[in-house]
Amino acid sequence: ISISDFVSTAPRPLIIGHRGASGLRPEHTLAAYELAIDQGADYIEPDIVATKDGVLVARHENEISGTTDVADRPEFANREATKIIDGVEVTGWFTEDFTLAELKTLRAKERLPELRSTEYDGLYEVPTLQEVIDLAQRKSAEVGRTIGIYPETKHPTYFDSIGLSLEEPLVEVLDANGYSDRNDPVFIQSFETANLQKLDELTNVPLIQLLGGSGQPYDFTVSGDPRTYLDLTTPDELTNIATYADGIGPSKRLIVPVDEEGRLQPPTSLIDDAHAAGFLVHAYTFRNEDFFLAPDYQGNPELEYEQFFSLGLDGLFTDFPGTGFEVANRL
Ligand code: G3P
Ligand code: CA
Repeated sequence: ISISDFVSTAPRPLIIGHRGASGLRPEHTLAAYELAIDQGADYIEPDIVATKDGVLVARHENEISGTTDVADRPEFANREATKIIDGVEVTGWFTEDFTLAELKTLRAKERLPELRSTEYDGLYEVPTLQEVIDLAQRKSAEVGRTIGIYPETKHPTYFDSIGLSLEEPLVEVLDANGYSDRNDPVFIQSFETANLQKLDELTNVPLIQLLGGSGQPYDFTVSGDPRTYLDLTTPDELTNIATYADGIGPSKRLIVPVDEEGRLQPPTSLIDDAHAAGFLVHAYTFRNEDFFLAPDYQGNPELEYEQFFSLGLDGLFTDFPGTGFEVANRL
C-alpha cells in the first residue's frame, strides 16, 4: 500500500490526539494518551525531546517548568538555566540537564490552568517514547483497532548542537518496536526540513512537513531569502517538499485564514494543491474552548471540524479527540 492508496481508502479523516486528549488531562501523559484512544483517536501525538542520558521523552518543549512541578522542587533549584533555543532566549529547567531517573521524579501539570482543569496535577510522570509506544500497542489489543503513533521532533537542530541528536535514537526506538515501513501505523512530523531530510535517509516510515503560520504572512528566510509562511504552500514549494516528505501538517490557518479580527476568510486551495502533489494533509490544532475559536464557531466547535472535513482534510490534530471522532463518523 502506498500513501496515495491510503488517502483514497481511508474510511474517514484521521483523528490524532494532540499531546493526547490534552484538553482533558495534562498534556503528554499516559493518562492523556489513553483517554485520547478511549475517545476514538486513531493516532496519539508525542512531541519528542531528549534527556541528559539520551532517552527520548514526551514533552512539547525541552523547557519543562510550564508542564511539570520542577520549579517547586528545591533539589533542582540549581538546575535553572538560561539558554538560546532556536534563536530565542529561554530561562527555566531543561530536559537535557536531567537524567531520565531524575525526570521521572517530576510530576506533570496542566499547561493552561486558566482554561482547563488542574485536578490531575501531580498525578502523572513524564513518559518516555517507549512507554507511549507500549501504551499504543497494549491499547490496540484492548480496543481491537490499530492505534498509531505520530511523534514530532522538537528542536532537532538545537539537540544536534549539544550532542543529543534526536533522529538516530528515534529511528532506533521505532525500528525496535516494528515501525519501519511506509504502511506501518506511524508518521514522523517536524517543522525542520533538514531534520526530515535526515530522517528520510534513515527510515522508510512516512514523514510529514509541518507548516506554521497564523494565516497572516510574516517574515522568515529560506537559505537566506526572505519568505512568508504562505509562500511555503505554493505548488512549487509542495513539489520541493515532496522530495523528502509524504504529507504536510499545516496550521489550520493556512487552509482557512482569518482577518485581523479573527473572522474567517475564504479557504485557500492548499488541500487541493497538496493532494495534486500526492500529499496527505493533517492540519493542526483543533480545540474546543471559545478562547481558541474564531467568532463564527464559538459555542459550537463541531462546526469547525465539519468545515475542514468538507474541504477534504485527511486528518487533524485535536486536543479533544472525542469531538473529532464524533464529527468524522457522521460523514
Ligand atoms: O504537530 C502538530 C502541532 O502539534 C504542531 O504544533 O506546537 O502543538 O507541537 P505544536
Ligand atoms: Ca506537536
